[in-house]
Amino acid sequence: MLIDNKRLADFAALVHTGHVNPFDGPLKVGVDLGTANIVVAVVDSNNRPVAGMTTASKVVRDGIVVDYVGAVQAVRKMKGQLEEKLGVELIKAATAIPPGILEGNVRCIANCVEGADLEVTRVIDEPTAAATVLEIQDGAVVDVGGGTTGISILNNGTVTFTADEATGGTHMTLVLAGYHGLTFDEAEVMKQDTAKEDEVFPVVKPVVEKMATIVQRFVSGRDVSKIYVVGGACCFTEFETVFEKILHIPTMKPNDCLFVTPLGIAVNV
Ligand SMILES: Nc1ncnc2c1ncn2[C@@H]1O[C@H](COP(=O)(O)OP(=O)(O)OP(=O)(O)O)[C@@H](O)[C@H]1O
Ligand SMILES: [Mg+2]
Repeated sequence: MLIDNKRLADFAALVHTGHVNPFDGPLKVGVDLGTANIVVAVVDSNNRPVAGMTTASKVVRDGIVVDYVGAVQAVRKMKGQLEEKLGVELIKAATAIPPGILEGNVRCIANCVEGADLEVTRVIDEPTAAATVLEIQDGAVVDVGGGTTGISILNNGTVTFTADEATGGTHMTLVLAGYHGLTFDEAEVMKQDTAKEDEVFPVVKPVVEKMATIVQRFVSGRDVSKIYVVGGACCFTEFETVFEKILHIPTMKPNDCLFVTPLGIAVNV
């Protein structure tokens, strides 16, 4: 089932148009260093979206920084472009990690953001950041990105469990590439072409079923009555239907699912 989130739609529109919203007071910055995309979100002290930017990137793989210099340069460049539009310096930031990665890798992600001259006030689990935007008190948030699928379970507003598995949109692309004899990049273009969704989804559906069985393992025996899917890989129209068939738990998807986690990171500065 689709859910409508206006703040999210506002933020997505800022990213797509490059516009900035009027603001007052100090700004907060969220930096999402993903496997597929780096997204920078800027919100005001009332958590209203002010500006945003996304860049395709290969500097992080599955929550691990594989190109430190490239990551710092990319974040620095995005910060500079946003500052120019906003006319102020961006100072405080938060960033995020897939749940459960090793402490050294957490530090490395934070260092990338600090290397771009931002003061990191918090490093949060990605699905937990997403839960903030969706204002969830109870249920499981599943962030299916390019390379990682993270889950946070909340009960009465408290995160009671987090986990992460190395699967995501990249696996879908690999399956599609193998099926059609395409390169990875060709398959990526085909996968994201919504006009080809009827042709693409049946091929990648087994990957979605596998993701659902992974989530089933995490939620089994825990109090989860709703699942919220976010992240770029759940863009497919039928994604949540596959989850519901396997998990037998109502599964919701917000609009602009690519931008839930980045916006949630900024809110948590
Ligand atoms: N319209 C679309 N249809 C299908 N998949 C899409 C679409 N748009 C983006 N994706 C996929 O979403 C994934 C990127 O999602 P997202 O930006 O949430 O990941 P990330 O945060 O970079 O990665 P991770 O969280 O795993 O480190 C890619 O695999 C991309 O192919
Ligand atoms: Mg992500």
